[in-house]
Amino acid sequence: MISRRDFLQQVSGAMVAAAASYPLLSWAADNAEVVVPGKEGMIVRSARFLDLEMPPEFADSWITPVHHFFVRNHMHEPSTLDANSWRLNIGGEVEKPLILSLADLAKLEPHSVTNTLECAGNGRGFQQPNVPGVQWGKGAVGTGRFTGPRLRDLLQRAGVKSTGKHVMFRGLDEIPGKVPAFIRSIPVEKATDSDTLVATHMNGAPLTRHHGFPARCLVPGWIGAASCKWLTEIKVLDKEFEGNFMKPAYRMPNQPIAPGGQVNPDDTHAVTGLNVKSIIAGPADGPLLKSKAVHIHGAAWAGEADVVRVEISTDSGATWQPAQLSKEQTHYAWRLWNYDWKAPKAGDYTLMSRATDSQGRTQPQSADWNPSGYLYNAIDQVKIHVAA
Ligand code: MTE
Repeated sequence: MISRRDFLQQVSGAMVAAAASYPLLSWAADNAEVVVPGKEGMIVRSARFLDLEMPPEFADSWITPVHHFFVRNHMHEPSTLDANSWRLNIGGEVEKPLILSLADLAKLEPHSVTNTLECAGNGRGFQQPNVPGVQWGKGAVGTGRFTGPRLRDLLQRAGVKSTGKHVMFRGLDEIPGKVPAFIRSIPVEKATDSDTLVATHMNGAPLTRHHGFPARCLVPGWIGAASCKWLTEIKVLDKEFEGNFMKPAYRMPNQPIAPGGQVNPDDTHAVTGLNVKSIIAGPADGPLLKSKAVHIHGAAWAGEADVVRVEISTDSGATWQPAQLSKEQTHYAWRLWNYDWKAPKAGDYTLMSRATDSQGRTQPQSADWNPSGYLYNAIDQVKIHVAA
């Protein structure tokens, strides 16, 4: 069995050896005390391919500090990342292929976008019937301020040919064995949006290794999988990239399917923008509250749309009252909200939150079931007990 010290060294160095990984994973999942340096207090969903979830109580700050920002890796993080020798290759359907250094990126006009990044699988653990994959709860989500040159500016320099339809990204992940590389593409329209970035900074500091140092893509409002970390190659293609992480992964059925049903892979589409969603950061689920005065608060987001309303129910969904939305607000970023409530008497209560966005979408009572558990967005709820 591996020692705790060795475990920490391995995780912090992103060098979790495949041979040691399966016992390590079960040990990590069972051991609430596992701490990843710089990520204290996070829920370790997986140590082989580090997957860290933010406990919902940390959804209480508009900008999520990096130490509370979730981590989602499909493979091993790169073991060596050297800012001086790092290069970004831009090629494919372009007039002039480019090779850029970090210093070259720093010379371009920087742009900042405050974006709520959410993993497509966030909330998968709540799907019934259950589906395979990382059993995320509520916290594979966070809001960061990402800064770097616009991808559009890089593509303009390279000169996208009229045949260029999709833009593909490759990271420096270390691929275990013969599994397919984490390669995906986005349509050229989204790639040339003025808010799509090659980000080098997060919350005012250079990206950390877990979040894609030295440069990552930031595709705002879209599922986290669109935002490739440890970027090393950008390739303009004449069509959507064909590979495991575009199909069958990260696709939704075109038609609603019955829970537990099968889907025809040819009757699916790539998951792009995020759903409308809210989560309750406090009170936590389950505690005994000594006071009848309860401060209910949380965060709500809607991908490329804006949150216009959050409603709270304190009676298991029978009636709803508007929550107050925080002033901090930009396109693509979550809104914090709060609602002060006085419990009429001691007893058990189910508190619920429900968001509505500028596209008229409202969080449903139960999320559409799909075989990969993507875009789960059912009304959030916590149960509390108010003491006499
Ligand atoms: N980029 C690379 N190269 N490899 C990955 O495994 N995971 C993706 C995306 N970018 C991934 C990646 C997924 S699924 C998500 S949700 C986000 O990164 C998570 O970003 P974070 O770890 O910075 O929170």
